Amino acid sequence: MKYNRCGKSGLLLPQISFGLWHNFGSVDIFENGESIVKAAFDKGITHFDLANNYGPVPGSAETNFGTILKKNSQGNLRDEIVISTKAGYTMWKGPYGDWGSRKYLLSSLDQSLKRMNLDYVDIFYSHRFDPETPLEETMMALDYAVRSGKALYAGISNYNPEQTKEATGILKRLGTPCLIHQVKYSMFVRQPEEGLLDVLEEKGVGCIAFSPLAQGLLTDKYLKGIPENSRAFNPNGHLLLEDVSEVKIQKIIALNDIAKKRNQTLAQMALAWILKDKRITSVLIGASSVSQLNNNIESLQNLYFTKAELAEIECVLE
Ligand SMILES: NC(=O)c1ccc[n+]([C@@H]2O[C@H](COP(=O)([O-])OP(=O)(O)OC[C@H]3O[C@@H](n4cnc5c(N)ncnc54)[C@H](OP(=O)(O)O)[C@@H]3O)[C@@H](O)[C@H]2O)c1
Repeated sequence: MKYNRCGKSGLLLPQISFGLWHNFGSVDIFENGESIVKAAFDKGITHFDLANNYGPVPGSAETNFGTILKKNSQGNLRDEIVISTKAGYTMWKGPYGDWGSRKYLLSSLDQSLKRMNLDYVDIFYSHRFDPETPLEETMMALDYAVRSGKALYAGISNYNPEQTKEATGILKRLGTPCLIHQVKYSMFVRQPEEGLLDVLEEKGVGCIAFSPLAQGLLTDKYLKGIPENSRAFNPNGHLLLEDVSEVKIQKIIALNDIAKKRNQTLAQMALAWILKDKRITSVLIGASSVSQLNNNIESLQNLYFTKAELAEIECVLE
């Protein structure tokens, strides 16, 4: 594993990080998740990403991750891994379990620490911009989380370029620089190229790309229809059946042919394609099995693209 500096901070993150959004809830098989986390760490993936609401049920991915850590680390791995969590989406009933108030963020962080059985997380994120809460308040909550020792760094996710500029400015003034922005970015989702990546580079903020495989679309999984063991088929999955459209399938087939010529799987090429941009600190993948994880890590063997390959990929994506 290679480790990249996160923006202009002192923190290094693995080129591939692992997220527990799917496959780690109370509805999933615990032992499968445990084997994936163990395999990831063995391969040098030192960064694990969570959020208060990951499950289902919401919160259960944090509980399971805490159990995995306790069972397997003998208490001495905490200093070797970077754990992140977030608050910002709906978590509990009533007016205090959603969006970006200080009340929500700080009580949610306490709940996350309790579920994971941790004293602190490494990164605490505002999961989304809240148009109705003053940004100062949301950023002050992140600053307080760091100052109180419950988080080591502050991050933001799903903020647009303007909101990002404002948020990073406030955090800088408060003395807790924004470490990282978690953005949705893949060959199928290109919005970050329209200004956000430039803002992050200018501000010295790291960038971690989530759903880099477009939730599994950018793999060979859907080449011959929708298999039963797929996120699109799973009623708890966030990939909808209609997301697997005929237009997408045609693109996937063409991309798969390009990947073959590079001696890569489509998943490997999709990850390499993101990591070719030096503004990206890490790709944040998910996996439902150890073999998927291992397949994806192999992408690091070839991150180089010729101009002709890039042009051919653009042609398919247009
Ligand atoms: N900040 C945010 O708002 C936000 C939002 C979403 C996600 N995230 C973070 O990003 C992480 C990753 O998101 P994601 O799970 O959508 O990422 P992804 O890597 O795009 O998709 C992962 C899924 O693709 C399939 N897959 C992975 N490797 C494969 C392979 N080699 N061959 C075939 N299929 C493969 C698996 O689904 P199957 O079940 O089909 O096998 C797997 O669960 C999350 O866990 C979370 O930490 C953050």
